[in-house]
Amino acid sequence: SNEDLHARIIAAKATLGDRAVILGHFYQRDEVVRHADFLGDSFQLANAAQTVPNAEAIVFCGVHFMAETADILARSDQAVILPNLAAGCSMADMADIDSVEECWEQLMEVYGTEPDADGRVPIIPVTYMNSSAALKGFCGRNGGIVCTSSNATTVLEWAYERGQRVLFFPDQHLGRNTAKKMGISTDLMPMWNPNKPLGGNDAESLNEAKVVLWHGFCSVHKRFNVGQIEQARAEHPGVRVIVHPECPMPVVDAADEAGSTDYIQKAVAAATEPTTFAIGTEINMVNRLAAEYPQHTIFCLDPVVCPCSTMYRIHPGYLAWVLEGLVRGEVLNQITVPDDVAEPARIALERMLAAKP
Ligand code: 13P
Ligand code: SF4
Repeated sequence: SNEDLHARIIAAKATLGDRAVILGHFYQRDEVVRHADFLGDSFQLANAAQTVPNAEAIVFCGVHFMAETADILARSDQAVILPNLAAGCSMADMADIDSVEECWEQLMEVYGTEPDADGRVPIIPVTYMNSSAALKGFCGRNGGIVCTSSNATTVLEWAYERGQRVLFFPDQHLGRNTAKKMGISTDLMPMWNPNKPLGGNDAESLNEAKVVLWHGFCSVHKRFNVGQIEQARAEHPGVRVIVHPECPMPVVDAADEAGSTDYIQKAVAAATEPTTFAIGTEINMVNRLAAEYPQHTIFCLDPVVCPCSTMYRIHPGYLAWVLEGLVRGEVLNQITVPDDVAEPARIALERMLAAKP
């Protein structure tokens, strides 16, 4: 039962002490969150992986790309464990390294490699954290950088200091929403279709582009729409609508605010007057906020439950299993990024960590 698992996790943690640290993303279910030593958004968890010197093992309750990132950033003698190896991210799977390399080659043919008068190269690759280690390595090898939803603006500013344009992958929505917030016209944001030459664009529109967007998206955040926001405003006058920037642009435009999971958490925590919040993000997080802050009315914009099914695959049974493995001296479900990928990926990730939210 859940209570048995709860007790087993507590017992294993007590035996391990600070030899093991549990990192948990805000989207994890409550039965996992209550055991996390650190709870955070993806930027904070990447940072946390670098700041647990005593841990022999980092148990990452999140999805695969987050565990890969932790392995790249942690010391080489620290093992990173993903309690269920089937916890992936469908958005991260939408950009594979071969397609991105192919895109890059075609863009190089259009743009060349000559810097402009200000020394800016034609294009800089930027990958969202929600991507494979191979893509982060690609960015590290090609003068690029990683971003999260909390520092995307700072990262794009970094990129435009060094490049005239950006290739942004895998999430079209985060790329579009961030560039728009920076004042870039959506006319200058062509989308890349990997199945067509030049992504289905003509060379002229690519030349004028400020951001070339990959076609990826998050299937959880894609469910939010403007109609839901209109309905929330009609039913709850004065409602504060906050959405994650993985939502489509019209949804972000219609909301009052958009920000990372940590932004959403802090916005609710900081509200001093009883407030009604309509939130556009994953349901486990929204329900937890509603339970933690009963003085506010907090609900999810999507009336049909919208969990991230892969985050949900970290069942407390897997957490108990990997912790008890560590107690026996066994490292189960280890995530290891090979050195030839990890080294360039670390360069791109360290640039990201320097770009504070
Ligand atoms: P955050 O960086 O806001 O935690 O987002 C991670 C994520 O996967 C959102 O879908
Ligand atoms: Fe990936 Fe979306 Fe789940 Fe985040 S919420 S881990 S982007 S599928």
